Amino acid sequence: MDPISKAIEEAKNNPKLRKKLRIKAALTTVLMIAFLGVIFITVGTVISARQGTFLGMNQLDFLRLRARYGLLMMFLIILHIATNWRIYRKELELLSG
Ligand code: HEM
Repeated sequence: MDPISKAIEEAKNNPKLRKKLRIKAALTTVLMIAFLGVIFITVGTVISARQGTFLGMNQLDFLRLRARYGLLMMFLIILHIATNWRIYRKELELLSG
């Protein structure tokens, strides 16, 4: 087993750490599902630009939807970065040393 998976397996036996990891996993899962919306809106924007409409919406409709959906994604990504911040700081040490 790779070391990161091993660390997670060990964390499962520590109730406090387990709870933290569960929150992180739930948030990342929400982000993954929300990403499907990003794909839909991006594809819709491209197709409606080419053929006028897509699923009854024109390009402006998609761009408006994109602006609003972008706010939701920004919010989720900020939470995602915050919950992964310490791991990221540790990874950054690899770049500087
Ligand atoms: C749809 C969008 C995204 C998905 C599905 C996603 C998914 C993941 C997953 C599965 C992990 C592993 C750890 C965990 O489960 O929390 C992770 C880690 C991380 N993500 Fe994301 N992520 C997304 C977007 C982003 C964005 C936009 C950023 C930064 C601007 C970001 C920054 C990070 C950082 C800093 C980590 C921890 C360090 C690392 O594992 O390299 N993520 N992400």
